[in-house]
Amino acid sequence: MNNFIFQNTTKVYFGQGCVKEYLACLTKSSVTIMLAYGSGSIRDNGIYDEVTGILWAAGKTVVEFPGIMPNPTWKKVQEGARLARENHVDMILAVGGGSVMDCCKAIALAARYDGDAWKNFWARPSVIDVEPLPLGVIVTAAGTGSECNGNAVITNEEKRIKTGQDYPGLNPRFALMDPVYTFSVPVRQMVSGGFDTLSHLMETYFSEPDEDNVSDDMIEALMRSVIRNLRAAVRNPKDYTARSNLMWDSTMAENRIIKLGKRCDFQCHNMANQLEAYTGCGHGSCLAVLQPVYYRHIYRDGLPKFIRFARHVWGISQEGGSDEETALAGIQALADLIREVGLPADLQELGVTDREMLKEIADSCVISTGSYRRMSHEEILEIFRECFQGKEQSL
Ligand code: NZQ
Ligand code: ZN
Repeated sequence: MNNFIFQNTTKVYFGQGCVKEYLACLTKSSVTIMLAYGSGSIRDNGIYDEVTGILWAAGKTVVEFPGIMPNPTWKKVQEGARLARENHVDMILAVGGGSVMDCCKAIALAARYDGDAWKNFWARPSVIDVEPLPLGVIVTAAGTGSECNGNAVITNEEKRIKTGQDYPGLNPRFALMDPVYTFSVPVRQMVSGGFDTLSHLMETYFSEPDEDNVSDDMIEALMRSVIRNLRAAVRNPKDYTARSNLMWDSTMAENRIIKLGKRCDFQCHNMANQLEAYTGCGHGSCLAVLQPVYYRHIYRDGLPKFIRFARHVWGISQEGGSDEETALAGIQALADLIREVGLPADLQELGVTDREMLKEIADSCVISTGSYRRMSHEEILEIFRECFQGKEQSL
């Protein structure tokens, strides 16, 4: 295992009814709370009424910041930071999925920082030397794991870059996680979130070190849990057991625990980030298109691990088959799951229709240093083109 330091400062309150039970207490010492949310799903599903009811009953001044979009922009972060400053906000409460949570982490920092926060914290990794505004999150969609880390993935529209760093100082103070809050997430978004979790797990698993380590054992259990519960939640979106498992799997994949001692290969996320920055496509769905194609490019470079994936995660027997056939059968099982749960299998299905743009996007991708084989921009373009043709389905 590689050396590591571990800390996670987010306190999690998990389970049905947790908002009603704990929100008043968790906001006790704040006077002015910025209530941040997305395009309005929380108004339709009753979460807005429940949350504001608690805050108003406790006499809080509530400053609303609605309209945080999927793939949140730096412009939106700046708007939120201005609002927080003007209203002397002393706590931000993010109610939503990864986009709302990420945007609020960035606002918490930008509101307290006088310099150019994009340049100093997103354009390059740095050390946060100011105390961000306290942030609490109420999770309404599972997938990103943003509730328990310090990563804020933000799109700079002008520069056409989508990027994030995991700054421990940006971890939310608390995360309220009621699986019932995720019942109203549309099935397409639910499976997209589930695949995002699976992607985080695979990106950690398919990286060195590959010698005996507890992270890989935990990841296999988590991958099996995501696959099983995603199928159950597709069959019945109100299956509390399935939604609880998906919610906690998502946190476990991104709360740093499984990444300890592993290098991680973020190549698919790096490629997805840029496709999203250029086209605005959805995060988990984009990963679903990329991941099987990418793995068919690199499986020979990490063959024993791909065989282990096929056997331990998908239950594929190696009897009679060659190493390569077994490894490919595991990747095919992943592609089959993508189809089964209704995720897109090529870029056109994802809504990316301009083939000419792919070279510029490929050239803008960051190259991962943790992969079994380092990609070149030319090979990334090849992957994009295969995804465009939906080639992986025919293999
Ligand atoms: O806009 P609202 O009203 O919130 O509706 C959202 C949005 O339309 C909807 N939704 C959320 N909860 C709902 C609901 N609809 C009905 N009922 C509910 N309970 O779902 C749609 C998508 O929401 P979004 O927050 O964009 O999705 P997700 O949670 O997948 O977040 C994606 C963002 O997180 C970043 C991604 O890059 C992307 O920008 N990520 C953050 C990470 C992190 N901080 O660690 C890691 C991830 O790899 C990822 O990069
Ligand atoms: Zn992700």
